[in-house]
Amino acid sequence: MEQISDTPALRSRIAEWRGAGERIAFVPTMGNLHAGHLRLVQRGRELAPRCVVSIFVNPLQFGEGEDFGAYPRTLAADAEALRQAGADLLYTPTVEGLYPRGQAAQTRVEVPGLSDILCGASRPGHFVGVATVVCKLFNLVQPDVAVFGEKDYQQLLVIRRMTEDLCLPVEIVGVETVREPDGLALSSRNGYLTADERRAAPRLYQVLREVAEGLERGAPISQLESSGKAALEAAGLAPDYLTVRRASDLATPASGDEALVVLGAAWLGKARLIDNLQVRRTC
Ligand code: PAF
Repeated sequence: MEQISDTPALRSRIAEWRGAGERIAFVPTMGNLHAGHLRLVQRGRELAPRCVVSIFVNPLQFGEGEDFGAYPRTLAADAEALRQAGADLLYTPTVEGLYPRGQAAQTRVEVPGLSDILCGASRPGHFVGVATVVCKLFNLVQPDVAVFGEKDYQQLLVIRRMTEDLCLPVEIVGVETVREPDGLALSSRNGYLTADERRAAPRLYQVLREVAEGLERGAPISQLESSGKAALEAAGLAPDYLTVRRASDLATPASGDEALVVLGAAWLGKARLIDNLQVRRTC
C-alpha cells in the first residue's frame, strides 16, 4: 500500500489509474480506525479494483471547545490495518495542504436545511465542514464510488444531497453500522468512555430498538420519543435528541410515510454518542 501526503503525487497516481480505465473506490476517514472503517474498505474493494482511503482530522468540522485537539491520532496502526485490509493508497493530507489560505478563507459548501437540524443544531457549522472537506477530497481523489457508514446517518444524507446538487459524478454507498456484541455502535469516540460509562453506553441502541418496536406496533411517535428520552436519562445518559424522522430527508414523518429512521444522540461523560435504526412502519 502506497502512502501519499502531497497533492501532485496523489493527482499523478489517480491520473495513471484513470488513464488505465480503472474504477476507483474511496473511503474518507479521520483515522483511529476500527472494524467499522475496515468494513467500509472491504465494501470499497468489492466495488472497484482500486481503493483509496484518506485519513484527515478535519479542523473545519469541529466547533469551538470540541475535541479536535484530543481526537485520537493513530496513524502507524491505521496504516498497518489498511495494508492488511488491502487498500491500495492511503492519502494523508496536511491541514496546510488542504486549507492553504487558512480555514477562515476557505470556500465552503453548504447543504441548507439538512445541515441545520439534529446534530447540525447542536454542532453549528459541523456539516459545512464535512461537506466542504468531502467535496475537496472528491475533487482530488476523483472516485467513481465513495463509501460511508450508516452510523452517521445525517452525514450520509448531507453527502448524498451535496453530491447530487453539485452534479459530482460519484456514487455514494452506505454501509450498515458495525456493533459490539452488546449493540454499541463502533465509534472512534468510544475510547473516551470510562469502564462504568462503557457499561451504560449500549442503552442508546436498546432504546432505539424499543422505539422501533413501538413504531411497528403503531404507537404514537411523540409518546415513543418522550419515553425513550426518559429511559436514556434513567441509564445516566444525557440525551441531545431522540427522534423519529422520515428516512429519505429527516423531515417529520407524515401519516403515510413508511420508511422511517429513529435517531439518537446522547452525552455520556466526555463522549457524545450517536446511533440510528431504520424501520419500516406498516400500520
Ligand atoms: O465520518 C468521518 O469520519 C468524517 O466526518 C469524514 C466523512 C471523513 C469527513 O471528515
